[in-house]
Amino acid sequence: MGDFVKVATKDEVSSGSAKKVEVNGKEIALFNIDGTFCAIDEFCPHRGGPLSEGVVEDKVVTCPFHGWQFNVTSGECLTSPGVQQPKYEVKVEGNDILLSV
Ligand code: FES
Repeated sequence: MGDFVKVATKDEVSSGSAKKVEVNGKEIALFNIDGTFCAIDEFCPHRGGPLSEGVVEDKVVTCPFHGWQFNVTSGECLTSPGVQQPKYEVKVEGNDILLSV
């Protein structure tokens, strides 16, 4: 596990929304699910859709390209069983959100 790096502040990602962040050149979708932050790879494994631009409902994001769905807390793909989106550890310190990549 790498070091934690600050990627955003809490007020930049409101509840039920997402933000694309970058750590060491890697693009990651950061989600706020009722005040709990979690992160998975930005690019959909189907054809590279930007998951931070998908609709988030409950703990599930829907890819804006063709509708594959992912549990954002586990990275599990609900549309194509067995597909696992890489997920990342998130830490909150005060108003800062940090990621370990
Ligand atoms: S690129 Fe995400 S569903 Fe096709």
